[in-house]
Amino acid sequence: MEPTGHLSRRGFIGRSALVGAGLSIVPGGVLFGKNASSNKLHIALIGAWGRGRAHFDTIGRENVVALCDVHDKNMAEAVKVFPKAKTYRDWRECLDHPGLDAIVICTTDHTHAFIANWAMNRDLHVYCEKPLAITVNEARVVREKWLAKKGKLATQVGMQRHAGPNFNRVRELIRDGAIGELQSAVAFGNRQIRRDGYLPAAGKPPSYIDYDLWLGPAPEHPFNPGYFKGTPGANCLEWNMFWDFGAGQIGDMGSHTMDLLWNAVDATLPTSVTAKGEAYNPEVTPVKCQSHFEHPANDWRGPLRVSWYQGGLMPRSPKNFIDFNRIGHGAMFKGSKGFLISDFSSRMLIPFGDTADLSYYQPRRKEDMLPPLGHFQKQWIEACKEPSKATACDFEYSANMIEQMLLGLVAYRAGRELKYDPLTGRTDSPEADRFLTKEYRKGWTIEG
Ligand SMILES: NC(=O)c1ccc[n+]([C@@H]2O[C@H](COP(=O)([O-])OP(=O)(O)OC[C@H]3O[C@@H](n4cnc5c(N)ncnc54)[C@H](O)[C@@H]3O)[C@@H](O)[C@H]2O)c1
Repeated sequence: MEPTGHLSRRGFIGRSALVGAGLSIVPGGVLFGKNASSNKLHIALIGAWGRGRAHFDTIGRENVVALCDVHDKNMAEAVKVFPKAKTYRDWRECLDHPGLDAIVICTTDHTHAFIANWAMNRDLHVYCEKPLAITVNEARVVREKWLAKKGKLATQVGMQRHAGPNFNRVRELIRDGAIGELQSAVAFGNRQIRRDGYLPAAGKPPSYIDYDLWLGPAPEHPFNPGYFKGTPGANCLEWNMFWDFGAGQIGDMGSHTMDLLWNAVDATLPTSVTAKGEAYNPEVTPVKCQSHFEHPANDWRGPLRVSWYQGGLMPRSPKNFIDFNRIGHGAMFKGSKGFLISDFSSRMLIPFGDTADLSYYQPRRKEDMLPPLGHFQKQWIEACKEPSKATACDFEYSANMIEQMLLGLVAYRAGRELKYDPLTGRTDSPEADRFLTKEYRKGWTIEG
């Protein structure tokens, strides 16, 4: 049964062309306008507090019909904002909420690919907070599922910095030849959060936390309130460095920072990867690490080397007055005629050699500039209503990006250079292939 006053999702998609035109009368004389309640999505917010709060405003303009959280106190805060929503502790039950159109995932990183894949199996539109996955295999599963449903479902990964104008300006400079032929690109981030290992057992979980559901597909680790002690929206920094709960800074700031590079280079998947960093800790992802990926040529550039540096390791600066540690998180592109260095909101060009007059480069006319993306979350809402509309960080773009980054962790663990076959998702080392996926707790499957 559909709740009254709500179009079934299939009806919704079927009629979206009419609705997209602004205002329409459909047979039966019902009026559909942009703001008609029947033109609103039925959304579930999974992970209802913390980062979930950043979505309240956008999804609050639709119908938030369900909230899911394993932490009752967090849930209570969200219920104050969405008192009519039905509440769930278990996301698997929430996904079967009647009449759902779309979900927003703001849970722990180790559940993202699971929830996203289950949701797409139910033909739900998905906004997933970054990172989309914590293993190479998870990224591949989610991308494949979405590609099979592309054009019917809208997806977006929460790399909202992408909407900043600097992303477009960097892309234009590269494409227009401001540094000549693009040769290599490197992204870097210096956030450092050091932990020795999983937190020690600290008694039973309080009744208001369903710790078993919080663990979800992750292997068993004892409860410790430390996993829940952070401020809302930054609590991920209490658990995302542990192998079973996240991918460290690769999944955290790495998602945002590699996005700045990825948006400008039109790469897909690498054919080889090498990485090195501090000594391997079986419980905690490395703080200091660097990885390098060889990407094939595409239709506008030659082969490309992409690199990622984290945790205080930095690429060599082209000028001693440029200190990457002071930039913090950013990217550097090297071309045949110069460097472009960028953080999230600004950029600088360093043309080199005798041709440093920039005469080889024609800035683009104002009218030819890439159009602003607009509001990042709303872009996804619009695409849910008209799935032929594109989103900037859909599950193809984002899965490719995170698959590359996660391959860096595979090479780091393997301790050698790996050749990678993007078609099969296998390396040239059976030993290393063990690290493409991970152990899940009994009873949990990504294909549900
Ligand atoms: N895009 C960004 O800029 C940005 C910023 C911060 C966090 N994030 C991402 O958002 C996610 C959440 O981060 P956070 O700091 O809010 O973490 P958090 O630990 O506070 O979790 C958010 C909420 O989800 C709930 N939750 C956790 N696991 C759950 C599960 N299995 N089922 C239902 N509810 C569950 C928690 O109780 C909490 O209320 C992370 O993946 C993080 O990477 C993105």
